[in-house]
Amino acid sequence: MAKRFGILTSGGDCPGLNAVIRGAVLKGETVYGHEFVGFKDGWYGLVYGDIMELDRTHVRGLSNQGGTILGTSRFGPYTEPDGGPENIKKVLKNLEIDGVIAIGGDGTASAAKRLHGDGINIVGVPKTIDNDIDATDYTFGFNTAVEIATEAIDRLRTTGNSHKRCMVLEVMGRHAGWIALHSGIAGGAHAILIPEQPESLNQICAWVTSVRNRGRAPMVVVAEGFKLPDMKEEYSVKGLDGFNRPRLGGIGEVLAPLIEERTGIETRATVLGHIQRGGVPTAWDRVLATRMGMAVADLVAEGGWGQMVALHGTEINRITFDEAVGKLKQVPQDQYQEIRVIFG
Ligand code: F6P
Repeated sequence: MAKRFGILTSGGDCPGLNAVIRGAVLKGETVYGHEFVGFKDGWYGLVYGDIMELDRTHVRGLSNQGGTILGTSRFGPYTEPDGGPENIKKVLKNLEIDGVIAIGGDGTASAAKRLHGDGINIVGVPKTIDNDIDATDYTFGFNTAVEIATEAIDRLRTTGNSHKRCMVLEVMGRHAGWIALHSGIAGGAHAILIPEQPESLNQICAWVTSVRNRGRAPMVVVAEGFKLPDMKEEYSVKGLDGFNRPRLGGIGEVLAPLIEERTGIETRATVLGHIQRGGVPTAWDRVLATRMGMAVADLVAEGGWGQMVALHGTEINRITFDEAVGKLKQVPQDQYQEIRVIFG
C-alpha cells in the first residue's frame, strides 16, 4: 500500500542535502509508489505541521543545487512549548504521514533517537561538512568544503608569494580538524593546526620562520576549533547558536598578529566562513548524497525505524541511532603525525 513520508533537513546546511531529497523521492516514488512531503525549516516544520509537497517535479534537476529547498534551522523538537512527541504524533496523524526522514548532524540524530524512543516512526541520514560523525566513513558536504578551502589556499598562496607574507587561512570543522587537514595537505600548507593537536606558538613560528628562510611565503591553515596550549576553550566571541553551543571562529585573526610579532614577517588572516558551506556540491558529494537518499527510501519502505544510513567503505549500510549518536570522529594522532613531519 502506498505510504506517505516527510523529509526534514536540520542544523547547518551543507552541499548535497538537495541531492539526498531528490534520491529519496525518485526511488520512493518509482520503486515503491510512495509519496513524500517536505517539512519546512527543520524540526519547526514537523512541530507546526508546515509542509510542502515533494513529488518528482519538485526535485527535478536538484542534485547540483547547494543549500536545501526545505530550509533548515537550529531548532529542537523538544525545546519549543508546542514541541514534544505527543504533539508531533498528532501532526503526523493529521497530515497522514507514516514516518519521518531526518537529515542532519549529531544534534539531529540525538533528537531523532529520542523521538524514536517516544514512539515516532523516524530514520536518519547523516550530514555535515565537518565529517565528524563516527558512524559513517564520510558525510556528503565534506568533499565540497575541502575543495573550496583548497582553492582558497591556492589563491592565498599567489598573493602571499607576491608580497612575501605569511598567510593564515581559518576553516570550519568545530571540534574536528578534517577540513583543515585535508585542504591543508591538498594545498601544500606549511603548517596545519587542528583542535585535536595543540601546537605552541614557538613551534608555529619556527615552522613559519624556516619557510621564510628558504625564500618562500608561509601558508598556515588553522581549524576554527584549534587551541593554543594556554587556551582552556576554543576561541569564541560570537555567543551561542540555536543549540546553545558556542559559535566558533576568529582564531586565525588571533594567530596572525602573534606570528607577525614573533617572526617579524608580515602576516594576514582570512576567515573562510560560510563560503565553504555554500554553492554547488562536488560530483563526489552528489553521488554519496544521491546514494544515501535512495538508501533511506528503502529504509522507510521496510519500516526500519530508529536507524540511519551510513557509508562504510564503498557500501551504504544501516546503523541504529544508538550506534550513531554522540560519537565524535576526530583526526587520529597518527594521521596528523604522518603529515606533521613535513611542516615548515
Ligand atoms: O557544523 C557545521 C558548521 O559549519 C561548523 O563547521 C561551524 O562551526 C558551524 O556549523 C557554523 O554554524 P552557523 O551556520 O550556525 O554559524
